Order: sequence, then C-alpha cells, then structure tokens
Amino acid sequence: MLNHAQLAACAATFFIAFSTHAETPQADFNPPSEASMPAGPRGLAIQEGKKLLTETHQRLPNNVGNGLNCTSCHLAGGTTANAAPWVGIWGVFPEYRSRSGKLISLQERVNDCFVRSMDGKPLADTSAEMTNILAYMQWLSTGVPTGMNVKGRGFGALDDKFFPDAIHGKQVYAEKCASCHGAEGLGMKNPAGGYIFPPAWGKDSFNDGAGMARTFTAAAFVKHNMPLGQGGTLTDQDALDVAEFFTHQPRPVYAGKAKDWPKGDKPKDARN
Ligand code: HEC
Ligand code: HEC
Repeated sequence: MLNHAQLAACAATFFIAFSTHAETPQADFNPPSEASMPAGPRGLAIQEGKKLLTETHQRLPNNVGNGLNCTSCHLAGGTTANAAPWVGIWGVFPEYRSRSGKLISLQERVNDCFVRSMDGKPLADTSAEMTNILAYMQWLSTGVPTGMNVKGRGFGALDDKFFPDAIHGKQVYAEKCASCHGAEGLGMKNPAGGYIFPPAWGKDSFNDGAGMARTFTAAAFVKHNMPLGQGGTLTDQDALDVAEFFTHQPRPVYAGKAKDWPKGDKPKDARN
C-alpha cells in the first residue's frame, strides 16, 4: 500500500504530466486555410517556415543530428490537435516551463526541440530560419486570443491509474508498430534521403532528454496518434506499455539533462 505522502506525490506527478496546459481558458481549434496565406514577403516567410519544419532533416543538416523532421511528431505541419499542434502557441509564449525552471521564449522552445527531439544544434535567434519558423507559427495562430490555449494543445489526456509493463509493450510494438517503424525500431529509409517511416529508437531517433523519451508523454502521443491514421484505437494500458518499451530502447544521450528541472520538481518519468 502507498502511504498518504506517496499518493500525494503520485497525484502531483500525474497532474504535471497530464494537465500542464489545462489551467488557462481554451480557444477553439481552427487552423487557417492555405488559401488565407498572405501574399508578399510575409507569405513567402510563412511558406519557407513550413518547409523548414516539414523537411527539417534535409534543409537544416547543421542543426539536425538524427533522421527526423519536426513534423514527424507535430503531425500534418503542426495542425493536428493532440499531436502538440503549433496552432495557438504564438500567444502563449513566453511561458513558464518547469523543465527550464524559468519563463522561456518561443525561440527557446523551438530550440529545445532542435537539441533534444532532433538531437541537433540550436538556430540563432535572429537567423532567417528562426524568423521564418516563427512567421509560420504566428500565421497558424491566426484568430487565437493572446494568452489562450487551444483545445487539443499538447497530446491530450491519458488515464493516470495505470502502471507501465514493458514486456507486454514489446508485444504491442511487434503487433501494432513494427510494420512501419521496423522490427528493430529503425524505421524505413527513403532512398532519396531521410525516412519514409521514422525510427522509434536508435541513433537516428530523438535523444533521451526529449519530451518523447518520457513514458507518459510518449504514451499520450501514441494513444491519440498511432498507429498512424488509427489514433484512439489502443487502450490507455497498451499505449503506456508500448511507450515504456520503445522509449527505453537505445537512443542518443542528451548530456544537458542533469540541469533539467532545476527547482527540484522533476516528474517521475523524466530520464536520468
Ligand atoms: C520526437 C518528437 C518531436 C519532434 C521531432 C519535435 N518535437 Fe517539438 N515537441 C515534442 C514534445 C513531446 C513536445 C511537448 C508537448 C507538450 O508540452 O505537451 C513538443 C513541444 C514543442 C513546442 C511547444 C508546443 C506547446 O504547446 O507548448 C514547440 C514550439 C515545438 N515542439 C517545436 C518543434 C520544432 C520547431 C521541431 C523541429 C525542430 C520539433 N518541435 C520537433 C516532440 C517533438
Ligand atoms: C502505418 C504506419 C505506422 C504505424 C503502424 C505506426 N506508425 Fe508511428 N509513425 C508513422 C509515420 C509515417 C510517422 C511520422 C509522421 C509524419 O512524418 O507525418 C510516425 C511517427 C511516430 C512517432 C514520432 C516520430 C518518431 O519516430 O519518433 C512515434 C514515437 C511513433 N510513430 C510511434 C509509433 C508506435 C508506438 C506505434 C504502434 C502503436 C506506431 N507508431 C505505429 C507511421 C506508423
């Protein structure tokens, strides 16, 4: 039996894992139509930003250390609810992040994914690439009031009463994931460069300091989005089990993770 303090600690961990974005009022999820993209220099910047985010591996070789694109996780150009959409994020940064222990800008948040999810290097804040990425995210956020989260921000909820079982997760992986991500998790390469199906682990995957390396974060993503096109078909338990399994397979190591959660509020599924 868990004692009262342990239960409270558990509940606090789950609160952080599942309701990070629930505290502010929510706006409807309405990405703008392609037809509404402005003309002129702003339109060109938005289009260029979108290309950088969808063809990141190919276009930013100096900043990407693995085989992924930003949109390998932020599905459909960041316009999918519950796949960490970029719709509406323009007006919520700067934002306090417990992992950083301070308020961070949208540029810093973008670079967090460059160094962790992409196992690469940050873009300069004033680079044309960063400006174009921000232009795209700002356009995606059209109509969302400043300071409001959209419904579907992040990855959505997962029932918090389960404990992961990696052995069962390995079975779920073989049955539901290996057909695309490969029996060895290494994905399927595109002969023209990059991947048709991205790797779930190995040297071309996200590093162990990435949000996706955390069991509950990965489980929420998988639950709502995988198998691709069949989001919502796995039970919470299966999503949690398969997430525990694939996140703990060999992957690049992020040296900076010892400095994460400087205020001592490190969640239970954070990697050591
Ligand atoms: C391996 C999966 C993965 C890849 C690839 C990835 N990200 Fe992320 N990203 C995440 C996760 C996990 C989060 C945290 C979501 C949450 O807070 O619920 C996140 C969050 C974000 C956020 C903040 C979203 C919010 O609602 O606060 C931004 C902005 C972002 N990523 C940008 C990028 C950019 C730009 C790239 C490419 C350079 C990228 N990401 C690549 C997994 C990924
Ligand atoms: C039908 C093929 C298919 C199946 C089956 C499938 N995926 Fe995916 N998965 C994809 C594709 C394609 C992407 C990248 C999406 C994009 O680039 O638009 C992806 C992205 C991912 C990502 C984020 C990128 C990365 O590789 O880290 C994870 C994690 C993931 N899938 C896990 C799973 C898990 C776990 C299962 C089984 C429950 C699964 N997938 C089943 C096709 C599939």
